[in-house]
Amino acid sequence: MALVAPFSLYLHIPYCALKCPYCDFNVRVVRALPEREYTSAIVRELGHYADAEGWRGRSLRSLFFGGGTPSLFAPQAIGAMIERAAELFPFTSDIEITLEANPEDRRYFAGYRAAGVNRLSLGAQSFQPHLLSCLGRRHSADDTRAALETIRREFDNFSLDLIYGIPAQTLEDLRGDLAAALDFSPPHVSAYNLTFEERTEFYYRLKRGRIAPAPEELEIAMAATIEEALAGGGLQRYEISNYARPGKESRHNRVYWEGGDYLGIGAGAHSFLAADGAFGRRWREEKNPIRYMERVARDGTASMEYENLDAAKAAAEFMFMGLRTTRGISTNDFARRFGKKPAEIYPQIDAWVEAGLMESDSGRLRLGRRGFMVADEIFLAFV
Ligand SMILES: C[S@@+](CC[C@H](N)C(=O)[O-])C[C@H]1O[C@@H](n2cnc3c(N)ncnc32)[C@H](O)[C@@H]1O
Repeated sequence: MALVAPFSLYLHIPYCALKCPYCDFNVRVVRALPEREYTSAIVRELGHYADAEGWRGRSLRSLFFGGGTPSLFAPQAIGAMIERAAELFPFTSDIEITLEANPEDRRYFAGYRAAGVNRLSLGAQSFQPHLLSCLGRRHSADDTRAALETIRREFDNFSLDLIYGIPAQTLEDLRGDLAAALDFSPPHVSAYNLTFEERTEFYYRLKRGRIAPAPEELEIAMAATIEEALAGGGLQRYEISNYARPGKESRHNRVYWEGGDYLGIGAGAHSFLAADGAFGRRWREEKNPIRYMERVARDGTASMEYENLDAAKAAAEFMFMGLRTTRGISTNDFARRFGKKPAEIYPQIDAWVEAGLMESDSGRLRLGRRGFMVADEIFLAFV
């Protein structure tokens, strides 16, 4: 039997105690959490894929519980999903099992560790009371500190999320957040530039002129401040929004950036399977959690909207996923896959290099610091 590379598994938990006004993830706030029913649906669908072409018999290199707020689920439920995944797909010895958690759920953290989670990703966002309030967060900075104390006791590996470019945030606020984060010597930090996503509360407030985004020059200064402060704490930038100590880069996210296979299970999750000789196939799950559970109960799976990528779509994906990382892309790998050098397909590349937004050396193409600031506009040009 041919050796097949291990794959990554994403499990989406679509529930939150509160909807954050800036968030456009697939999230529901419900009065009664259907923990048992939803866990059963995930477990059942795992069984479906264990028997499916492309996944059968393969081992697992990373497992990521994302949300929503997976930490609303008790350790028993999370443990049941991990256990089922382990029965169906052998775990590699160094498997990374991450769970996204909110500071107010710290009572569960030791239980998650016992259930097999080995990396916790904490949604801190900020340590400044006025910014937490602006972001509509339920937790205080003290909750976050207490959560980080618990995490440090239980987990060798963890990450925390910060948001910057929040309305009314100053450079001083940001320095405070970075220092507060570094107090806990995190192996990994994600620092996201606040985006005003359509159909979110923040988007409507922006349209009505009730909030203003941070000025562009301030955001540029903030990005530089983040990179410098975190480097001072031993964390190097390795992706647009991600910083890690050497060896502590997220193994799971790397699979997305490098075009590896991932299986997404749970309401609205996405999957990708590279196929021999073609450009791969992607699909997604039914988004609505109730319909998701109904479909899994009926059919064993809620997957839909299958799409076989053509060369143009696969090339675009290769570019904008690879360019998210500081390593960038290999122009030879691109040429091997698509028959031409990137600049032959995307002539804008020369102008970006000229303008200092992109760097090209030793067979690699990557965004520089200025390029990262306008990454979304650059990525649009590929699609
Ligand atoms: C799935 S979300 C939420 C995880 C966790 N439940 C929480 O509330 O912290 C993952 C991360 O995306 C980031 N995020 C969500 N919406 C964002 C936005 N509009 N702009 C920037 N970052 C955002 C936040 O940092 C958040 O921690």
